[in-house]
Amino acid sequence: MAKAIRFREVGGPEVLTLETVDLPDLGPGDVLLRQTAVGVNYIDTYQRSGLYALPLPSGLGLEAAGVVEAVGPGVSLVAVGQRVCYGTGPLGAYADRRVMPENTLLAIPDTITDTQAAGMMLRGMTVRYLIRQTFPVQSGMTVLLHAAAGGVGLIACQWLKHLGVTTIGTVGSDEKAALARAHGCSHVINYSTENFVERVREITGGQGVPVVYDGVGAAVFEGSLDCLQRRGMMVTFGNASGPVPPIAPALLSQKGSLFLTRPTLAHYTADRRELVDTANDLFAVVGNGAVKIDIGQTYALADAVKAHQDLAGRRTTGSTVLIP
Ligand SMILES: NC(=O)c1ccc[n+]([C@@H]2O[C@H](COP(=O)([O-])OP(=O)(O)OC[C@H]3O[C@@H](n4cnc5c(N)ncnc54)[C@H](OP(=O)(O)O)[C@@H]3O)[C@@H](O)[C@H]2O)c1
Repeated sequence: MAKAIRFREVGGPEVLTLETVDLPDLGPGDVLLRQTAVGVNYIDTYQRSGLYALPLPSGLGLEAAGVVEAVGPGVSLVAVGQRVCYGTGPLGAYADRRVMPENTLLAIPDTITDTQAAGMMLRGMTVRYLIRQTFPVQSGMTVLLHAAAGGVGLIACQWLKHLGVTTIGTVGSDEKAALARAHGCSHVINYSTENFVERVREITGGQGVPVVYDGVGAAVFEGSLDCLQRRGMMVTFGNASGPVPPIAPALLSQKGSLFLTRPTLAHYTADRRELVDTANDLFAVVGNGAVKIDIGQTYALADAVKAHQDLAGRRTTGSTVLIP
């Protein structure tokens, strides 16, 4: 048996309920985990609200850390007693125990706590592919990053600085501005009170930036195109303020022969080699202290409703973790 957060209909945070569920028998390649910390990510709110459709009833959550309690036939990647984590699902991480396929699991390095691991895998591997693969940054560049004090945001600020990149970050409050600055963001814009397009133009001497990393979506999409240099790249990777409406490709030509991509982590970690390479890069920058994992808030597993209210209400900073 396990305790798990489940939902039977889409809607607000209150659709999430804590239930007692049966665990399946371990098949080939299966691993039973006792989970000690569970990551809460913005995508969980899209799945709960119905923006991203799921078959219902359903569990929720794609990221957690814990200890291997038992292994099924043929498991070779992990062993009983080992500390492991994952950040790419499958769905159902909001639970105290669960069965996972071994090929999704990664050993947690000794220098990283379970809570840090649960707060960094999905967000940190996302930052890695965004800045190393989707648009590989180079030292000396200046880039624009939206929601710079969020979970993805604080990891990105630090990793970009480590790579010699100057970050212009947007945030929704003065407290978040101070936090982003403390994590290496050089220029912080409060987009609740300032026109971020004008400010980016000012900061870059009218040049604009070669890339915008945007997890905010609808509210900033069009303005972000106006922050780009000729042939710059718009990386729209999330919809915290709502999904980006369809656009005509001609708009990209009018605004400077821009590139537009809408990436997702699953397509950068689809096979085991890619997953391990991505995770190892993340473990390396966290291990050498270049990137610190800022757990802004933790909640009991039973308080997942409150965690979702705070995340969607813009009241969180850094990563959010549930403790089963
Ligand atoms: N495509 C991928 O592979 C991938 C992977 C991971 C995450 N993501 C996306 O990356 C984004 C960040 O994820 P996260 O988990 O780290 O969340 P987060 O950044 O910690 O939280 C979202 C932030 O978005 C900002 N925001 C702006 N307008 C908002 C609005 N109307 N409602 C709510 N928030 C608003 C808020 O910061 P301010 O108050 O400072 O504006 C809020 O704190 C999300 O869009 C997520 O879906 C995408």
